[in-house]
Amino acid sequence: MCGIICYYGDRPVSNVLVQGLKRLEYRGYDSAGFALMGNGKMNLHKQQGTVADFERSVNGDFFGEAQLGIAHTRWATHGVPNDINAHPHRSNSGKIALVHNGIIENYDGLKKELQHKGYHFESDTDTEVFVNLIEEFYSDPLVDLEQAVLLASQTVVGAFAIAVISEDEPDTLIISKNGSPLVVGLGEKEFFVASDPASILEHTKEVIYLDDQELVVFRKGTFLIKSFQNKVITPLIQELEMDLESIEKGGFEHFMLKEIHEQPDAVFNAFRGRLNAFSGSLVLGGLVDHFHLLTQAKRLILTACGTSWHACLVAEYLLEHFARIPVEVEYASEFRYRNPILKEGDVLLAVSQSGETADTLAAVKLAKNQNIPVLGICNVVGSTLSRLTDAGSYTHAGPEIGVASTKAFTTQISVLLLVAIKLGLEKGLLERSDYLELLKEMERLPELLTSLLDSEEAAKKIAEDFKDAKNFLYLGRGINFPVALEGALKLKEISYIHAEGYPAAEMKHGPIALIDKEMPVVFIALQDSGYEKIVSNIQEVKARGGRIISLVTAGDEQVSKLSDYVIEVPSCSESLSPILTVIPLQFLAYYIAVAKGCNVDQPRNLAKSVTVE
Ligand code: M6R
Repeated sequence: MCGIICYYGDRPVSNVLVQGLKRLEYRGYDSAGFALMGNGKMNLHKQQGTVADFERSVNGDFFGEAQLGIAHTRWATHGVPNDINAHPHRSNSGKIALVHNGIIENYDGLKKELQHKGYHFESDTDTEVFVNLIEEFYSDPLVDLEQAVLLASQTVVGAFAIAVISEDEPDTLIISKNGSPLVVGLGEKEFFVASDPASILEHTKEVIYLDDQELVVFRKGTFLIKSFQNKVITPLIQELEMDLESIEKGGFEHFMLKEIHEQPDAVFNAFRGRLNAFSGSLVLGGLVDHFHLLTQAKRLILTACGTSWHACLVAEYLLEHFARIPVEVEYASEFRYRNPILKEGDVLLAVSQSGETADTLAAVKLAKNQNIPVLGICNVVGSTLSRLTDAGSYTHAGPEIGVASTKAFTTQISVLLLVAIKLGLEKGLLERSDYLELLKEMERLPELLTSLLDSEEAAKKIAEDFKDAKNFLYLGRGINFPVALEGALKLKEISYIHAEGYPAAEMKHGPIALIDKEMPVVFIALQDSGYEKIVSNIQEVKARGGRIISLVTAGDEQVSKLSDYVIEVPSCSESLSPILTVIPLQFLAYYIAVAKGCNVDQPRNLAKSVTVE
């Protein structure tokens, strides 16, 4: 939510910032803006709308003498998307500018105090309070900008990553962070700052991930990291492993479509170096030293949000089936506020693509505070989650930029499947012959996924026929019930069609009342342990005139005859099937959104990483 990019160096500053904003736009696209510092003067422009609009309106005007700049793309929290609420925000004197990602919880009280002292506010944002709080501290002649930012950072309550410049110290850039991500990029006599390292990848691969309660002061070719307790921190410089190609659209119309197509490779990478069916080995490097926590666990609590939560629901089936460990799946946002009962023997497993989701991080902190071991499954290397957890496994899906999660889901399940099978084997619950069979089948998954990409055409055709539907129902049973939830989520978030996912058997307890000839019902109806039951559910929908779209096992005749539309899924073990069945549902949502003319990669009101609570 909200993207920050800053640059300090000799290149044309506005170019670097605008290019960075384009890469950060997935984090919010309500407005864009920047403030540039050159020859001791600040030049600020901001406006509602996309980065492309912003780029058009500043084109050519801001190349001047600037050597320092801060920029922002916004996902609105306080105040509607408009020019005034756009960042950067200026202090009352007009001399200090600030960009902010996060939410300041005590802004209202601080605002009143500042108003009492004569400050006025133009916007509805918490950010304008922050910048004026800095100005208030800075008004003391003994306090420099660095101290003023430090004091303000210690005073505000909430999550923030900020960048600050001032005309009174035109050679200084200060950033500060607590709870929202911020990374520093190091170049030859130049510095970058970003919410996401992908936005600076074309300039540098040397980065420093900041920890919470840290502040960095940049001054003419030098920088210094300090804690909020004013201690100097020795930087840990890391090398980014991603490449530029992975963050480009690569000829696809949208990132989402590219990312759907990347899933055979993504799942291959999730297994690479970990799974070897020939030797029968299964190694999870990041978890090796902590795997005993899992084998000895009396209960696993899986926590996440959105699509990652759906992956956890799939994992619940896998872990209980293979490892016979009781599993609870918790929305991080509920878990953290519920005063949950945690006890010895519990292990928390937090799952997140970005590793920056505020509620998931808060759930992790809650468990840590109660001395519960915390493991993570995460895609983004170096993310807050990966640094906060005791140990974990990366999904290796590669950057996911489309707001609608696709390859994150299939790779999270892939890694959780590895965990479940390994646990089953180590606990003596899984016969070695069954284990070896599973490994063989898992090694074939990328190939099966590739063949399933052919379902694109069928999904496109169905999308044309249903693009004007007002509602959709997604039904599945057992391990494919969470896939029904995920299919419905994909559709609603990018096409704005109301969709519900349900366990198929629950239909009779209410949703069946919705069924008529206007209601498309998507069934995940593979030939698995729930097949006969789901055939009955399909009959029930057919009897009421519902329009039936079914995902069936290749070669199925029974469901195919009952259905109006059919997409075939290659035959595989039930435990592996969610990795396959979700693909046609992703295509279906994508093509419905395209047919409706929706902005697939930047759906309204959404942002890729929900870093606010
Ligand atoms: O980065 P995370 O996996 O923690 O994100 C969780 C959700 O915000 C995310 O899955 C969201 O629901 C997606 N838009 C779903 O497509």
